[in-house]
Amino acid sequence: MDTTETFTADAPIDGGPEGPSRAALFDAATGYTRRRTFAIISHPDAGKTTLTEKLLLESGAIRLAGQVKERGERRRTRSDWMEIEQKRGISISSSVMTFEYDGLVLNLLDTPGHADFSEDTYRTLTAVDSAIMVIDAAKGIEAQTRKLFEVCRLRDIPIITFVNKIDREGRDPLEILDEIMSGLALDVAPITWPMGMGTDFRGLAAFQEGQPVTLTRNTRARETFDDVESFLTEPRLTGDPVFGPAMEAMDIARASLPSFDLESYRQGHMTPVIFGSATREIGVRELLDAVRSFAPPPLPQPAEPKPIEPAMNEVSGFVLKIQANMDPNHRDRVAFVRLTSGVFKRGMKLKNVRSGKELKIASPMFFFAREREVVDEAVAGDIVGIPNHGTLSVGDTLTEGSTFSVTGIPSFAPELIRRVRLPDAMKVKQMTRALNDLAEEGVTQVFRPMLGSSWLVGVVGALQLDVLVSRLEVEYGVTIMLESAAFDTARWVTCDDAAELERFVNSNKGDMAFDRAERPVFLARSAWDISYAQKNYPQIVFSTTREIG
Ligand code: G4P
Repeated sequence: MDTTETFTADAPIDGGPEGPSRAALFDAATGYTRRRTFAIISHPDAGKTTLTEKLLLESGAIRLAGQVKERGERRRTRSDWMEIEQKRGISISSSVMTFEYDGLVLNLLDTPGHADFSEDTYRTLTAVDSAIMVIDAAKGIEAQTRKLFEVCRLRDIPIITFVNKIDREGRDPLEILDEIMSGLALDVAPITWPMGMGTDFRGLAAFQEGQPVTLTRNTRARETFDDVESFLTEPRLTGDPVFGPAMEAMDIARASLPSFDLESYRQGHMTPVIFGSATREIGVRELLDAVRSFAPPPLPQPAEPKPIEPAMNEVSGFVLKIQANMDPNHRDRVAFVRLTSGVFKRGMKLKNVRSGKELKIASPMFFFAREREVVDEAVAGDIVGIPNHGTLSVGDTLTEGSTFSVTGIPSFAPELIRRVRLPDAMKVKQMTRALNDLAEEGVTQVFRPMLGSSWLVGVVGALQLDVLVSRLEVEYGVTIMLESAAFDTARWVTCDDAAELERFVNSNKGDMAFDRAERPVFLARSAWDISYAQKNYPQIVFSTTREIG
């Protein structure tokens, strides 16, 4: 039985007659101000999947806990290559979930949890306006969290922190806050405080200066106190051996930490912290409320020649991800487009600025909870799925005719390079097409060496290679072998002086290749090779990233 409850076109937004109408959500001038587009970043196992599920549940987007995982598994069985994902117990593909909460449309972008897929994750983070960082209360800040946090910092993405698993014995809350402050150089402002942890957990106190304090034992048992002082001095509670020290710690935190400052959060300097437990649904509503109250609406999108304002009339957007063959029976290929301005309507024609081609968008999709639904309208901040047959690539900008281009969507220098060997020479054509498709999707980078005829593929993480081989086989019927190439890494090379660039390329033919956009790439055996080349050709710029587009 399918117990998912998705929103229909005329469902009320927040159940109340006072809530904004659905028309308001798509209003040309202000609809975008009701969007909150965010991602969850965390180390694997911190509880991101569980929390996602509970966010959907709490908002009413799904009725029964367990849907996210169940659906995930059902989806996986559809595609063989995803077996890799299953075997290793990780989530490779990132997706979008749209749901409504209290008059807002929340677009949650899922980031792949595995370090090997960082490139995809980085791109996802270029399409969000804020993030939730999930930390395991017992483990504190782990490697992948730190890495993802650094990406958020590059773009000053505001972060709300959820300290998960307080139903287990964890670290002292003050110690966790200290770790965030010193480890990530962020100011912290707790919004909830745990009264005891693990078996001693008595409840979660939600406090903000001048506001009533709620004490939540579980989703049903809530108690309200007029203010922080009356909560701290409540004799019934202070007499409890757990409450006393917990309140003392909370008092120390209140006295020593700055109060929450919206500006500071929006600039990426301060993180509001919510302690909670995803499995026990504690702190989840507080987290949704924090997203509603603090997270920024769509911001201007960096672009050339100038940033795109979300209030602009012209519809625009960019492709953050391509997902192909989710269903091998249909060979579907969906481009996930983040809208950056205007009110998008079904049937509209948009121009791909890169190719100059026009695209009629007949059946765009929205991703309500986990279901796909055809969308009639969408505004800046929304992520729309556009089915296409290879006309769109990651990084492409779509407009109604203007020629501006979104900037800042990175591609990273590969850290592993392999030579592709094709045992069945009859399949060259299929292989070339398949490699091209998968490169467009961002599964791999493809390089054509200046000398020699075999292709090179470059990836950031080893897992991408497994996915590549498996997808070529399952989806295109092409078996390839990957052989070690003499190279370990690559740098895009540019130079203001075209003659100097030509000189460099011609003197290093054996180490040169071209990427899909025919940009010259220097293949290096080691970091030493690069510094040696740099020393001999000081005018050449060796880049580890390049912008797609
Ligand atoms: P991830 O997506 O970040 O990788 O984490 P996921 O939600 O899959 O959670 C990882 C494990 O942590 C799961 O346990 C999950 O149940 C548990 N977990 C998540 N939130 C909480 C919490 O608030 N408290 C406690 N005690 N555990 C939590 P598992 O044993 O791997 O899976 P399962 O059998 O429980 O599903």
